[in-house]
Amino acid sequence: MKIKINSLNHILAYMTSGFLLYACGGTKPTDDLDVEKQLSYCEEQVNETLAQIGDTCLMPRSIDSKDSKWHLVNIYDWTSGFWPGILWYVYENTTNENIKEQAIKYTECLEPLTKSEPLGDHDIGFQILSSYGNAYRMTGNEAYKERVLQSAEKLSRLYNPVVGTILSWPNMVERMSWPHNTIIDNMMNLEILFWASKNGGDRKYYEIALNHARKTKDHSFRQDGSSYHVAVYDTIGGEFIKGVTNQGINDSSMWARGQAWAIYGFTMVYRETSDKEFLRFAEKIIDRYLQQLPEDHVPFWDFDDPDIPNAPKDASAAAIAASALLELSQLEDDEKKAKKYRIAASNMLESLSSARYQSRDTKPSFLLHCTGNYPGGYEIDASINYGDYYYLEALNRYKKMLQ
Ligand code: GLY
Repeated sequence: MKIKINSLNHILAYMTSGFLLYACGGTKPTDDLDVEKQLSYCEEQVNETLAQIGDTCLMPRSIDSKDSKWHLVNIYDWTSGFWPGILWYVYENTTNENIKEQAIKYTECLEPLTKSEPLGDHDIGFQILSSYGNAYRMTGNEAYKERVLQSAEKLSRLYNPVVGTILSWPNMVERMSWPHNTIIDNMMNLEILFWASKNGGDRKYYEIALNHARKTKDHSFRQDGSSYHVAVYDTIGGEFIKGVTNQGINDSSMWARGQAWAIYGFTMVYRETSDKEFLRFAEKIIDRYLQQLPEDHVPFWDFDDPDIPNAPKDASAAAIAASALLELSQLEDDEKKAKKYRIAASNMLESLSSARYQSRDTKPSFLLHCTGNYPGGYEIDASINYGDYYYLEALNRYKKMLQ
């Protein structure tokens, strides 16, 4: 019952804030967020992190709620690209040469990933596009471009043409008896394939990404637009077998970060293909997410956790969704919807930029209250590098939209 009342309050608050912006005829994000102040805050936190982590190739991944020191991981961790990515985004804003040096250093630490065999899973897209992809975008260094192309080639080897999707987790085939599994997070890693096909790579990368997106659209969602975490397929005829979860509360729940990955992923697929079917689909899954958000615009880690409102939040999901919504608002063909998504993204960023969600002087991360893996029992109510990465990406997008 409490959940219903919260949702109703939220819908009223959402409609009111929407009305105010429409009444002002705003075509840009709201002016309520002091984006320069938030970007300076991120830069300060990055300098704190640099001072804390020392000079190795270990990457800061997360800080537990009661801790103030980064838990460091090696380059093979799935999140290893986010720290160099954060440095590149700070450099983009500040043109600070010291930050650029660090960005180059941490990016180049990842070089073995682009070469080593065999490829463990789909995460190479996260690792390489946020590091080498941003590095190439900001320096034009052809060697970086080569690393991204090599990584796209590696990822493409996980594609199964019988199924029409990438095998996300090869090591779960035996362990879980999932003959071919495709997780919703994998939507994010289609971007490196689209990127490769536009940057001198084979046309096959585009086809793989498109097929994967189509099949995921058809099978990884329920009628109401909520996503399954894992879609399991057979490898003989490529048939969809079932939708299950690994990181959500149960197989029929809407895991918040999974839905956020889907929103971001389908928005990106629409950007790359201009196929309106993907635009309409992105709207459907975003609207499903927005419908049930709590009043502060930051979801609980799983929308169906029976402990809500006492369940942990996931600020990383909010950061991913905010960044995606800012992009979608600029791609929209319907101005009313564009405004709706701009307002929603602004609300999320304002909330994430408040004292409730920023770490400030308690720890060197940007954000608090992210949930990494609740069923796995780790990184619950923590600071996590991908929450920070997408928060900073969203602030950068917001700033560009104001210009
Ligand atoms: N891709 C893993 C996660 O979102 O936790």
